[in-house]
Amino acid sequence: MKKQLLITGGAGFIGSHLVRLMVKKYPGYHITNLDKLTYAGNLENLRDIESEPNYTFVRGDITDTAFIQELFQNNHFDGVIHLAAESHVDRSIASPMEFVLTNVIGTVNLLNAARMAWKDGDLAQKRFYHVSTDEVYGSLTDEGFFTETTSYDPRSPYSASKASSDHFVRAYHHTYGLPVVLSNCSNNYGSHQFPEKLIPLFISNILQSKPLPVYGTGSNVRDWLWVVDHCSAIDVIFHQGKDGETYNIGGKNEWQNIELIKVLCQLMDEKTGQKPGTAARLITYVTDRAGHDFRYAIDASKLERELGWSPSVTFEEGLSKTIDWYLANAEWVSHVRSGEYASYYEKQYGDRLKGN
Ligand code: NAD
Ligand code: TYD
Repeated sequence: MKKQLLITGGAGFIGSHLVRLMVKKYPGYHITNLDKLTYAGNLENLRDIESEPNYTFVRGDITDTAFIQELFQNNHFDGVIHLAAESHVDRSIASPMEFVLTNVIGTVNLLNAARMAWKDGDLAQKRFYHVSTDEVYGSLTDEGFFTETTSYDPRSPYSASKASSDHFVRAYHHTYGLPVVLSNCSNNYGSHQFPEKLIPLFISNILQSKPLPVYGTGSNVRDWLWVVDHCSAIDVIFHQGKDGETYNIGGKNEWQNIELIKVLCQLMDEKTGQKPGTAARLITYVTDRAGHDFRYAIDASKLERELGWSPSVTFEEGLSKTIDWYLANAEWVSHVRSGEYASYYEKQYGDRLKGN
């Protein structure tokens, strides 16, 4: 019998990389990808594997209780890897309720469905994996790192919704014995990332000679991990992580935003054959993000020590591969940027860029 695995949010950025990895690496599993296809979900991300015999796509909303319960009744899932979420901090500031609905209520719907479906089975063969973010830990000063025991201190509506869903996952483990595992990862970058997050937004703006909106002074720090390395960590944790445990995932790769942006601009000039300094001239300092967390930095030593995971590429290699992918896939960018996103972008950045 095939192992039945449900991946939620598999048409999004990280989810599509994870679906591809699981479908290819585990031909003995059947992968069901459940995704609502919001602005951030795109089946073009999975064209290369969509006709594989061990893959099925289901369009649906994790907030729809009846639909989710039926899905679990009709399929005998052994494992769930839950990534479906609203994921962009700026959108959470503009519309927090979407984040509560999908990230909190949607997660609890999935937990309830798994609990019901697994109530009479062998729980040792089941696993509910919640993919979360380091942003739940709050904001660091220049010193220190987030570990798995750092207290939660979420400060944006996005991180508050993810923190809440993490708490529910742990509560279902402690209260009902649901077999769960969680991971909290730093900022991801790579191919197929929606061009509203820093790196793909700036690549895409440079290609269109549009301003590069740097929030505040550009001194905020993020810790970047190549998406493929995040997915290899999820694979290891899903298969070898201990029941009820949390693992931090990160690549020891901190960058001040403005320093990262300068490297990105230089690489873009080189790769597009423009004169040095051309892209950097687009840098435009704009009004800061409300409540902008200063620094995130992950201590991933538990994952490295206990499960032997480490990242496979340096930042320079990962960034170079990422830029190459965006240069070769201008059509993907224009598809995902059309429609609803175009008006969102105007609203989001129009005011910020005025007068700069
Ligand atoms: P994304 O925004 O690219 O993709 C989210 C996917 O979820 C989309 O395909 C979307 O259609 C789907 N979705 C949204 N609402 C849904 C709903 N109600 N029902 C079903 N599907 C729905 O996000 P991402 O960057 O790939 O992040 C995936 C997960 O990883 C999220 O849970 C996020 O919190 C977490 N995470 C992201 C990062 C990062 O840097 N991007 C870092 C750490 C953790
Ligand atoms: P982002 O990619 O939105 O990820 P997160 O907020 O989850 O860390 O932003 C990364 C950093 O880049 C963050 O400090 C905010 C900053 N930023 C800008 O300066 N300009 C932008 O246009 C965006 C989208 C982000």
